[in-house]
Amino acid sequence: MRVIRHVAAVFVFVLVTVGLAHASADLAKSKNCLACHAVDKKLIGPAFSDVQKKYAASWSASQRAALAQTILGGGSGVWGAIPMPPNPQVSDAEALQLVDWIMSLNGGAVPIDADPTPQTPASITPLKGLWWNPDQPGHGYSLHAVGDQLVLVWYTYDISGRPVWYLAANAYAGSSWSADLYRFRNFGATSDIVGTVSLTFSSATVAQVEWQSGGVTGGEVIAYFKFGDGSTTRRLYNQTGLYFDPADDGYGLSVVSQGHGTAGGCSGPDPTTCSGRSVVSDAATEVSVLYFYDSDGNPLWALGSGDYVGVLTSTLDMYLFHGSCPNCSYVTPSAAWVGTMKRDHVGQVGGFACTIDNTLAGFGGRWERESNKFVRLSDGEPIYPDY
Ligand code: HEC
Repeated sequence: MRVIRHVAAVFVFVLVTVGLAHASADLAKSKNCLACHAVDKKLIGPAFSDVQKKYAASWSASQRAALAQTILGGGSGVWGAIPMPPNPQVSDAEALQLVDWIMSLNGGAVPIDADPTPQTPASITPLKGLWWNPDQPGHGYSLHAVGDQLVLVWYTYDISGRPVWYLAANAYAGSSWSADLYRFRNFGATSDIVGTVSLTFSSATVAQVEWQSGGVTGGEVIAYFKFGDGSTTRRLYNQTGLYFDPADDGYGLSVVSQGHGTAGGCSGPDPTTCSGRSVVSDAATEVSVLYFYDSDGNPLWALGSGDYVGVLTSTLDMYLFHGSCPNCSYVTPSAAWVGTMKRDHVGQVGGFACTIDNTLAGFGGRWERESNKFVRLSDGEPIYPDY
C-alpha cells in the first residue's frame, strides 16, 4: 500500500499565534459547541453571555471546576427542559479554557487562574489499531504509525451500501491531524484525492473525526476498538500493524492482535484464563481488515476475526459487508462469508506468507493469492497495558 507523504504539510499550532479570546471562540466552534450555543442569543442551549451573567457574582474556583465538569459530562435542569449531552471530544484542559472564555464575556470577571499565555494542546499518542463508533458498528478506521506519519484507512460504504475504503496519511504532532483522503481504483494503480479528513484526539482512545468530500461534510466521535480480554502477558503474537505485499502495491492488510485467545492459549482444562497453567502458544485474538479490489478494479474490503490457534499460523473466515454510507441513515450491516485468509509466520521476519481465497459473491470472480509475502509497513505497536 502506498504511503502518501505531504512534505509541505507541516502541522503548526495556530493557537500559539492568536489571542486567547479568538482561540477559545475557535475552540468552541471546533468542539461543536456552536451547534447549540451562541454568544449572545439562546439557541438550543443558553447564550454564553447569559451563562456569564448567571455565575459572575458568585464566581469561584469550585464553580469553575463544576462548570467545566458540566461541559465534559453534560448537564440538565438549570436552563430549561432540554439537557446538554456529554462532550467527550473535549479534554479537561479545553473545558477549563472554554469556561474561562465564557466567563470573560460581557467584559466580565477576570477568569480565576487565567493563563495570559495561550496554551498549546497537550500531546496525545493515540492507540494504534481499529477505531469505531460503538453506536454504529459495521464501519471503522484503522490507525497506524509510519515514522512521524499517521496513516488512516477508513473502511466504510458508498451510497449504494457497497464496501469502499479510503486512505489518508500525514505527519502527526500534538493532538490533531488532517490529511487528504485518497480513493484507489484500477487495482490500486490510480488514486484520486476525494476530500479531506481530520482527527482531533481528546485522549489516547477517543477522537472526533471530521471529513469533507465533494462539498458534503460529516463527522462522528470514535473510540479505540477493544475486543480482547485486556491481557498483556502474551508477546509472540502481537502482529498489530499495517501490512502490504510489495509485489501487489495498492493492496493492504490491517492486523490487530489483542488479549489472550480463548483457544490454544494454555495447557490444562481451563483455556480461557490460563491462570496457574503454562502458556504453550501465546495465543491472542485477532481482527484483520483486508483492502483489495473487485474484478473491475474498484476498492473492496473484507473483515475477519478469530483466535490464533496454532503456534505460527492463523486462519480467519473473511466477510464482506453491506452497510450505510457515512451520511446515510444507519442500517445494521449485513455480512456474507466470502472465504478464508491464512497467515503463516514460519521463517518470516516482520511479515508473513498469506494465502487468500475469497469468492467475490456479488462482485464478480474471486480473489486469490497463493503464499504472498506481506511485510509490515507500519511501526511495530506495543501491547497496551491500559485497557
Ligand atoms: C446538543 C446541544 C449542545 C451542545 C453540542 C453543547 N451544549 Fe451546552 N448546553 C446545552 C443545553 C440544552 C444546555 C442547558 C442545560 C441545562 O438546562 O442544564 C447547555 C448548558 C451549557 C452551559 C451551562 C451549564 C450550567 O450548568 O449552567 C454551559 C457552560 C455550556 N452548555 C457550554 C457548552 C460548551 C462549552 C459546549 C461545547 C463543548 C456545549 N455547551 C455544547 C446544549 C448543548
